[in-house]
Amino acid sequence: STSPLRLYATVSDAYSQTLELADIDWDSIGFGLQPTDYMYVMKCPLDGSFSKGELQRFGNIELNPSSGILNYGQGLFEGLKAYRKEDGNILLFRPEENALRMKIGAERMCMPAPTVEQFLEAVKATVLANKRWVPPPGKGSLYIRPLLMGTGPVLGLAPAPEYTFLIYVSPVGNYFKEGLAPINLVVENELHRATPGGTGSVKTIGNYAAVLKAQAAAKAKGYSDVLYLDCVHKRYLEEVSSCNIFVIKGNVISTPAIKGTILPGITRKSIIDVARSQGFQVEERLVSVDELLDADEVFCTGTAVVVSPVGSITYLGKRISYGDGGTGVVSQQLYNILTKIQMGLLEDDKNWTVEL
Ligand code: COI
Repeated sequence: STSPLRLYATVSDAYSQTLELADIDWDSIGFGLQPTDYMYVMKCPLDGSFSKGELQRFGNIELNPSSGILNYGQGLFEGLKAYRKEDGNILLFRPEENALRMKIGAERMCMPAPTVEQFLEAVKATVLANKRWVPPPGKGSLYIRPLLMGTGPVLGLAPAPEYTFLIYVSPVGNYFKEGLAPINLVVENELHRATPGGTGSVKTIGNYAAVLKAQAAAKAKGYSDVLYLDCVHKRYLEEVSSCNIFVIKGNVISTPAIKGTILPGITRKSIIDVARSQGFQVEERLVSVDELLDADEVFCTGTAVVVSPVGSITYLGKRISYGDGGTGVVSQQLYNILTKIQMGLLEDDKNWTVEL
């Protein structure tokens, strides 16, 4: 009898046929929205608890013009990724961490949050409903974007009377246009991302609108993104518009401590663990901008950016370069370990992945 494999020209053809992948060019996806099939919607009415959600066809949503999110920015988002394993199965990376972070953020923004179980079930259902959009191994990942929004109408300033939890997904590749090559940052001296007592440590939508101006100015000058300093001393590193920052000197890897103005990144936390297990000394503390001058390597972490090496940082007009244009040895080592765990290519002894 004829083996079914012989019906296909190549093994990889057979592979994509059996997976029923979406018909897009998987080699050219960047970090932009590719509409997919379904989104998940769950509402929380006046009584204060989320009820059962449902999958809907992906598309526009209706909002009251007076909704809390549109008028007063009462909203949070999350970001996590699903990877396709070589065997075709799908891995989520630490999704309960996103569920917990959303709960903490919701408390800060006076919103009810889905329970961890509701969050996880919703993420799994959304990914499975869109599984043809999870890229084949090595071609990227499915970016999962949960939103929590005040959707009920308000006019006077107050928490909205109704909330919506929504998840949409999009296949993504590299975040920066540099791909995996080192990025060039510029230290911002005037504008700030967060203030003590503010909302910098939660993933509220306004934190990201607040960085657009400095980011646009930096991009216009050819930089990849902006590195923010603390607003009190204008001296300590905070984070980049869309990711956390790490500085390497010898065997010591330092990153700004989570003290209210820094987003507690899940990739940040994972890289700290990976680095320690590799024998590095990791310090979470105040990191002075002066330390950039004699660092060996600098890299950024985030769900979207993964581990992005930094090739140069410009501070007060002076450009500090790292390495010879390629990725630093330690940044590459940490990137390799993390991404192999995420893709199911390295034993997940920390139990970070969830297989669907
Ligand atoms: C992520 O890394 O998932 C984020 O939420 C950052 C966003 C600006 C893309």
